Amino acid sequence: MTIEQPPQSWQDYELIDSGNFRKLERFGPYVMIRPEPKALWDPTLPESEWRAMAHTEFKPGAGFGKAGKEDSGTWTPLRKMQEQWTIAYPPVGLRLRLGLTSFKHVGVFPEQATNWDFIVRNTREIAEVRAKAGEGAPKVLNLFAYTGAASLAACKGGADVTHLDSVKQVVTWARENMELSGMDGIRWIVEDALKFARREVRRGNKWQGIILDPPAYGHGPDGERWKLDECLNELLKCCARLLAPENSFLVLNLYSNGYSAVLAETLVRTAFGTDGRLECGESVLRDRYGKALPLSVFTRLRR
Ligand SMILES: C[S@@+](CC[C@H](N)C(=O)[O-])C[C@H]1O[C@@H](n2cnc3c(N)ncnc32)[C@H](O)[C@@H]1O
Repeated sequence: MTIEQPPQSWQDYELIDSGNFRKLERFGPYVMIRPEPKALWDPTLPESEWRAMAHTEFKPGAGFGKAGKEDSGTWTPLRKMQEQWTIAYPPVGLRLRLGLTSFKHVGVFPEQATNWDFIVRNTREIAEVRAKAGEGAPKVLNLFAYTGAASLAACKGGADVTHLDSVKQVVTWARENMELSGMDGIRWIVEDALKFARREVRRGNKWQGIILDPPAYGHGPDGERWKLDECLNELLKCCARLLAPENSFLVLNLYSNGYSAVLAETLVRTAFGTDGRLECGESVLRDRYGKALPLSVFTRLRR
């Protein structure tokens, strides 16, 4: 079990401080204050310093915390900033367009950086083995793929990538990130993740990489209901049938319901069996003062 955090050398992202149910972060040139239910402790810096640094603060709206509207609210401007800007993640060659959304998100989850590193490294290794055997590029499927950082990491590693999300606008955003990053060839699908996985099983298709970062609740484009605790095991069992038996990888990331890394590992082990190397851990952001903020858990399988 490991604790992972983005590299300190990442110039375009920093968790400056955290506490009192909020975090103070810098994305490229802009600093923002966002709600953070897990920051139960006291912040290190006084409120006056937070406000002196921040360009904007996200204020939760009436529905905040309620199912389906968990993260809704509005941004209060504090200093002049652009509504859209880009950041880079040089270790994987990513350029990502960010923007202030009405759901407290800005278009990237920085704590995922070590998953991107794993994806690019393992895709590359798998691609090399396949090339030596005269086989084509590895196929990587990214489910719940959002604005596509993990899809771009797989693309960078030399995969034929399929990026799936149920929301058309975020798929368009991911395509923009692909173009900004100077990549191409990703296949875009707007669909319900479980429906797609079931169909892939029926078709007998195999994938060399599968990436999943499912939310607690969600909807497919035709109103299909996604509920993590009810649907995750079935989805993983489908993925177990889709993942190639060797020279392949799985990344499962979980950030809701308070699920632990051990829970994620047990789920993957029961669905995928004992072949291959499994690693699990917590992804954290560490602020300037050393306070670690745990944001998700991961399990990665390499066969
Ligand atoms: C928080 S994001 C995952 C973050 C992403 N993996 C990353 O690190 O950039 C969860 C995504 O799941 C999508 N989603 C929700 N329900 C879905 C469903 N039933 N099928 C496919 N995607 C769904 C949402 O649109 C959202 O983009």
